[in-house]
Amino acid sequence: MTNTWIIGASSGIGEALAVELAKRGETVCVTARNAKALEAVRARLSGHGHLAIQADVTDIATLMSAAQQLFHAWTQTDRIIFMAGAYTPMHLGELDLKETRSIIDINLSGAFNTVETALSLMKAQAGGQIVLCGSVAGYRGLPNAQPYAATKAGVISLANSLRAEWGHRFDIKLINPGFVTSRLTDKNTFDMPMKISAETAAKIIANGLNSKRFEIHFPAAFSIGAKLLALLPDSLFFSAVKGMKT
Ligand SMILES: NC(=O)c1ccc[n+]([C@@H]2O[C@H](COP(=O)([O-])OP(=O)(O)OC[C@H]3O[C@@H](n4cnc5c(N)ncnc54)[C@H](OP(=O)(O)O)[C@@H]3O)[C@@H](O)[C@H]2O)c1
Repeated sequence: MTNTWIIGASSGIGEALAVELAKRGETVCVTARNAKALEAVRARLSGHGHLAIQADVTDIATLMSAAQQLFHAWTQTDRIIFMAGAYTPMHLGELDLKETRSIIDINLSGAFNTVETALSLMKAQAGGQIVLCGSVAGYRGLPNAQPYAATKAGVISLANSLRAEWGHRFDIKLINPGFVTSRLTDKNTFDMPMKISAETAAKIIANGLNSKRFEIHFPAAFSIGAKLLALLPDSLFFSAVKGMKT
């Protein structure tokens, strides 16, 4: 039996992943801020024993309290998956700074709060998996992608450091999706190449969680293209992304 805690599971990819992992026989705890939405997700999960615990990733006390509840319920937590995220399209020079601080707080401080909580919960047990969700948008700064892209670059860096420092004790993984249909991408007005459904993303992630790979990136044609773009020398990179809408 695998006990899986998904943080950021009241909608979108996190919700679809909870449904997919429950279908595969895992016991899932879904966490986010919206208690009503969480309960609705919990009720959709196949099998028994699933939990819904409210927490806000920007407030580590709420994450630690959720972790305590899980320790009492499960003793062993096998996977902790950080899926929480926020995105608002903005342009440098016209940033909504209050919204910018909130996005940084959720996406980046939330990731640090989750890692601290995960390590405090898992240190006492043998093994476990800690998974952070970044984005292909974090590979290299693209036009019209801030502040979101900078937070995802931070998450990618954090996941790499976590793997380097704790990879001998825990299975550390990084998820970097391309475009996935959700309330985040519903805010975009531009064409999103190779966009996939949250259900398809969840299946790819669920397979990746059981693989030996560190990074789960998808859809492959898009994410490999994004990797190659990021590797270009500066002059080629900046001329390639000039005028790009992201
Ligand atoms: N959709 C894409 O194309 C795409 C691409 C690359 C990466 N991603 C990443 O994938 C992850 C899931 O996003 P999504 O597209 O599925 O969007 P989504 O449907 O908006 O899901 C975001 C989840 O994060 C939770 N959340 C937000 N702020 C939170 C907070 N302060 N504390 C706890 N939970 C919080 C939300 O629940 P509450 O509002 O109830 O708290 C929700 O469950 C995010 O990290 C996103 O950056 C998405």
